[in-house]
Amino acid sequence: MKLGCCYYPEHWPRERWTEDARHMGEMGLSCVRICEFAWSQIEPELGRYDWEWLDTAVATLADAGLQIIMGTPTATPPKWLVDAMPGMLAVDAEGRPRRFGSRRHYCFSHPGYRAECARIVTAMAERYGENPAVIAWQTDNEYGCHDTVLSYSDAAAARFREWLAGKYHGIDALNAAWGNVFWSMEYASFDAIDPPNLTVTEPNPSHVLDYRRFASDEVVSFNALQVDILRAYAPGRDIVHNFMGFFTDFDHHALSRDLDVAAWDSYPLGFLEQAWFGDEEKRAYMRQGHPDFAAFHHDLYRGCANGRWWVMEQQPGPVNWARYNPAPLPGMVRLWTLEAMAHGAELVSYFRWRQAPFAQEQMHAGLLRPDGSEDTGAEEARAAAADIAALGEIGAPPRAVALVISYEPAWLFQTQPQGCNWRYIELVFEMYGALRRLGLDIDIVSPEYDLAGYKMVVIPSLPVVSKGFAARLAALSCPVLIGPRSGSKTADFAISDTLPPGPLQSILPLRVTRVESLRDGAVEKGRGFAVTRWLEHVESCLDAEIALENGRPVLLANDRYRYLAAWPDRDLLGDIFRGMADEAGLATYDPPHGVRMRTIGTLRFAFNYADRPRRVSEFVDDVDELAFRIGGDRLDPGGVAVWEV
Ligand code: GAL
Repeated sequence: MKLGCCYYPEHWPRERWTEDARHMGEMGLSCVRICEFAWSQIEPELGRYDWEWLDTAVATLADAGLQIIMGTPTATPPKWLVDAMPGMLAVDAEGRPRRFGSRRHYCFSHPGYRAECARIVTAMAERYGENPAVIAWQTDNEYGCHDTVLSYSDAAAARFREWLAGKYHGIDALNAAWGNVFWSMEYASFDAIDPPNLTVTEPNPSHVLDYRRFASDEVVSFNALQVDILRAYAPGRDIVHNFMGFFTDFDHHALSRDLDVAAWDSYPLGFLEQAWFGDEEKRAYMRQGHPDFAAFHHDLYRGCANGRWWVMEQQPGPVNWARYNPAPLPGMVRLWTLEAMAHGAELVSYFRWRQAPFAQEQMHAGLLRPDGSEDTGAEEARAAAADIAALGEIGAPPRAVALVISYEPAWLFQTQPQGCNWRYIELVFEMYGALRRLGLDIDIVSPEYDLAGYKMVVIPSLPVVSKGFAARLAALSCPVLIGPRSGSKTADFAISDTLPPGPLQSILPLRVTRVESLRDGAVEKGRGFAVTRWLEHVESCLDAEIALENGRPVLLANDRYRYLAAWPDRDLLGDIFRGMADEAGLATYDPPHGVRMRTIGTLRFAFNYADRPRRVSEFVDDVDELAFRIGGDRLDPGGVAVWEV
C-alpha cells in the first residue's frame, strides 16, 4: 500500500513547490493528487489555456519521484463559463437555480456543459495523458456532494422525457406502470411529463423512482464521457473517482463498471457528527470516529471495481464542515491508515498536504499547518509509513460473509418511507456492525455479484427482487438472512402480486399480510431482545425461530434461509449472526467494546477505538504464543496490533 496526499500547487508560491515535493517524499508519501479544482487557472478565459504553471508543477513533483494522480476540474466550472451558459446551473427542488460561488454548481444533464467538460478533459488528457509521472486520473470530484445529483432544470426535464420514451416506448405502458389512473394523472405523451417537483402533495412514487433512476444514469453517463476521453489519451493509466461516505444518491456499482479503481474520501470524525448516531455514541467516539465507519466503506468500495480501491482523501486532523470538529485522538491517523491496509487498500492519500489560510476550508487541518510547519497528522503519517514498510506484502482479503446491498432500495425507501425512522443505509450499517463485532470479515457486494464461495450471505433489505436473483439465492448452500421489506415491491413500484416477499416465496413460503411502523422509543419485546421501528405481520406454514413475547414471529426459517420480519436491535442481530456463523463453520469472537478485528492474508489486525486501553488477551486465547508483527497484548486508545494467524 502506498501513501499520498492531495496538493494544490496553485494555492502556494512557486518557490514552495520544490520544498513541498521533497518534504512529501521524506515523509514517506509517494503519490500526489492535484488539479481537481484548477479550471480557472488552466483556462482563465474561454479557449486561452495557461499550461506553463501546471507543466512546471508536474515536472517539479515528478523530479522528486512522486507519482501524480491528475483530477479533471469539472466540479468547479469557472465564472466565465457560467456567465456564458447560465442554463448549465442545477435547479433545486424548489425551482431555484443554484449560484456560482462555491463548487458543484452544474447540472449533469446540460448538453452544453457536457460539451465543455469534454473539451477541458480532452485538452488536459492530450497534454498529460502519456506523461510518465501521471499514473492515474480522477474524474471530477465527489459526484453528488452538496446534494447535487438531482436537478430540476429544463435540460434535465428534456433528457428525462427521452429517458422515459426509451424505457417505456409507448405512453400507455408508462401510464399502466405508474398506475396513473389514480388521481387522474394520465399523460397523453412523453412530452407532457415534468420532473416530480413542486407538486401540491406527494408525487406518484413510480414517477419519483424513475426520476431517481434517470438522475443516477445521468451521473453514470457524465462520468463515462470523461472516461472515454481519458482511455483514448491516457492509455494504461488507472481511472478513478472519489466517492463519499453514507452516500446513496446514485448507483455506485453502475458507475464503477467504467472505472479501474473505486476510491473514497474518509472523514471518520466529520461523519460521526453528521450521521444519525445518538448523542452517547457521538460523545464516546468523537475523537476516534465510529469503529465501523471506515471499515464499512472500505468493504463497500472494495466491492465496486473488482476489488481495487483507494482512500483518496484521509482526514488528517480536525475538519471544518461538521457541526463540531474535534481533533483525532493521538494515534487515530495512523490507525485509520493501517485499517485501510487491513481491508486491502492500494493507496491512502491524506487531505490535504497543507492547511489553506484562505477561503472556505481555512479551518480544515492538513498534514502541514498554514505556516508550513508539521501538524500532528504528519507525524502519524510517518509512523504509518514505517509500519507499512515493516509489514510488506500482506496477501488477499478473505471470502467469508457477503452483505448484499444496492442503491435503488435507498431511493425507493426515501420515496415511500412508511415510517420516518426507516433508513436503508442505517439498517445496512447496523447489520454490518453486528457481523463485525463478532470478528467476521465482510464483503459488501451488489445483487449481481457472484455469491458462490461465501460462507454466509446477508441481505439487509431488497424491496425489488427479480426472479433471477431469487433463483440464484436458491442455488446457494450457505446460511442466508433476508431482511424486512424484501420482495415488497415490483420494479414499477407496486405491491408484489402475491404479497411480499414476492419472488422470494420460492425459497421462503410466507406472506406479509400487514406492516406497521413504530415511532422512536416504541419497542416490542422478545426474550432478550426488542424490535423497534418496523414490524411485519406474517402468515406462514413455517415455524418461528424467534418470536415476540406475544407470540408474533420475528424470524422465520426454511432450511438455510431465514426471513427477518422486523427492525432488529443489536442483541437480536448478534444472536442471529452468531447462530448463522456457527452453522457456516466460521469462528466468532467477542472483542471488548470499541475493539474491532480484521483478517487479511495471514495477518490479523486489532484496532482499539475505545478511549481506554484494552488487551488482545481479552478476546484471543494464548496471547503469549502470538507472533506479533506490530504492537502486542496491550492496545492503547488508538492502538493497533497485528499478528500472524
Ligand atoms: C471532500 C472534498 C474535498 C474537501 C474535503 C474537506 O468532501 O472532496 O475537496 O472539501 O471534503 O473535508
